[in-house]
Amino acid sequence: MHEDVQKVLITREQIAERVAQMGAQIAADYQGEPLLVVSVLKGAAIFMADLVRAIDAPVEMDFMAVSSYGSSHESSGVVRVIKDLNGPVEGRHVLIAEDVLDSGLTLNYVVKMLRSRNPKSVEVAAFLVKEGAQRAPVECKYTGFACPDEFLVGYGLDYAERYRNLPYVGVLDPKVYLG
Ligand code: IMP
Ligand code: MG
Repeated sequence: MHEDVQKVLITREQIAERVAQMGAQIAADYQGEPLLVVSVLKGAAIFMADLVRAIDAPVEMDFMAVSSYGSSHESSGVVRVIKDLNGPVEGRHVLIAEDVLDSGLTLNYVVKMLRSRNPKSVEVAAFLVKEGAQRAPVECKYTGFACPDEFLVGYGLDYAERYRNLPYVGVLDPKVYLG
């Protein structure tokens, strides 16, 4: 375990098992229809990479980047698009892969924006959902794990851009951000 991690919440083995289940469920639900998996950079990139390999169906990938004004570990709800998707979503089944659904402010905005472009459908697959943290409504069809409302790192989740590469999800030791 990394010295800055207080405890491991979800192990690499648990992640692999759950993501495989999610992929199988998604493949069954879309019944062979082509799917555009979209992720919001950067945190969701790791989850997305594993998820698409678990979906046995025709899948394309696209990326967007947004910035939410606010401090490094609290979002403000004001979202600015830094990088839009490369391709159109009109008439397509879109699945947004998200690392963690926290306040929901970011995803609420992204879902609305994509819905306005006339896709065939828009659904959300969130690797983590923080319990009791949602302040904006987001319908999440696929959830990896429910987790406590603590500051987590690993499997894509960062603190000041670090720890994304940890293969497990852990609670960051407060000494790291309290100094
Ligand atoms: P929301 O708009 O509050 O739902 O924020 C979602 C985004 O905040 C996620 O995509 C993450 O980038 C970031 N985030 C929320 N909670 C955590 C955390 O515990 N660790 C690292 N990043 C987080
Ligand atoms: Mg982040």
